Amino acid sequence: MLVNGQAYRTVWMMDSDSDSSSGVPVVRIIDQRLLPWEFRVMDLGTVAAVAHAISDMAVRGAGCIGATAGYGMALAAALGEDLEAAGAQLKGTRPTAVNLAWAVDRQFEVLRTTDAAQQAVVARETAEAIADEDAAACQAIGEHGLALIREIAATKRPGEPVNVLTHCNAGWLAFVDHGSATAPIYAAHDAGLPVHVWVDETRPRNQGARLTAWELHQHGVPHTVIADNAGGHLMQQGQVDLVITGTDRTTRTGDVANKIGTYLKALAARDNSLPFYVALPSSTVDWKTRDGVGKGGIPIEERSSDELIWMDGLTRTGEKTEIRLVSEGSGAANPAFDVTPARLVTGLITERGICAASEDGLRGLFPGK
Ligand code: MRU
Repeated sequence: MLVNGQAYRTVWMMDSDSDSSSGVPVVRIIDQRLLPWEFRVMDLGTVAAVAHAISDMAVRGAGCIGATAGYGMALAAALGEDLEAAGAQLKGTRPTAVNLAWAVDRQFEVLRTTDAAQQAVVARETAEAIADEDAAACQAIGEHGLALIREIAATKRPGEPVNVLTHCNAGWLAFVDHGSATAPIYAAHDAGLPVHVWVDETRPRNQGARLTAWELHQHGVPHTVIADNAGGHLMQQGQVDLVITGTDRTTRTGDVANKIGTYLKALAARDNSLPFYVALPSSTVDWKTRDGVGKGGIPIEERSSDELIWMDGLTRTGEKTEIRLVSEGSGAANPAFDVTPARLVTGLITERGICAASEDGLRGLFPGK
């Protein structure tokens, strides 16, 4: 996607000094912790640095951390590091998004049958393939989701926008490019359909307010940031036409894990008879897990209470600052994801088309799985 007119992916690999004969590879990322205040790319030269970038959320979002882990394995192979240890370190960074383990396992599968002398080359090719496929899948999701927005637009008066509500950031920053939930929005905007996005701020890390809003602004898509609790009210007032979110892991039966608060939006959408769609590449489907909720279901990451207690931003005069929001003496709990049961999901928008959030629906599109 374009940032100030220049095309970027969220993660890529390059040789740190292309003039030197050593050509030491590095993984290059956009440091999402600094957005929207500062756009900075960052080089990661070791597997430990890649793992830290994922766990500290310099990179985040299911597809983006999957691709980053794929490049992390390529880096391990290039540096001659122990691949098993590298894979374990990368997999251990974040538990909920399944793309992470999927990408590492894909590297293992390929490298198992590759001569040691060829591993660096093959691991890098595999990482590039993971990244390219992620970007292509998201682009296809955009085309399939565009049909939904077009249908709603046809029911509107000329010029009246389709109002889409989204939660967290399932935009291009959360993938390699295009995004999942935002891909249909970008496609609709590019096709000339009037579209407006309600952006949930998404406490505690505010990925909506900080990242989705920034992305939409970069692309020129009309949008409004709202408090997380405003969505239900806007739905009751007829100001939302559909909800599209992303997902970090979807079970084979269509239960959807996504950023904390998504479940409440799905309940509100159901109560207001509004469509609630989830957009995902098939790399986000956990084909092994049946039920997402409860014991043996999708692991829900518990993050530091500091994310809730402290917030960073700009002062009115533009200086970066950090403030405390919760008084000393109070604890805070920070479950990072929740699971929306398949029965509340109108449909899944995938790279192969839209299907019911069910085992039959997913297997209909992905019969080999
Ligand atoms: O904790 P994060 O920021 O990595 O959370 C992931 C998300 O951004 C959302 O849950 C998103 O909607 C799905 S990931 C494409």
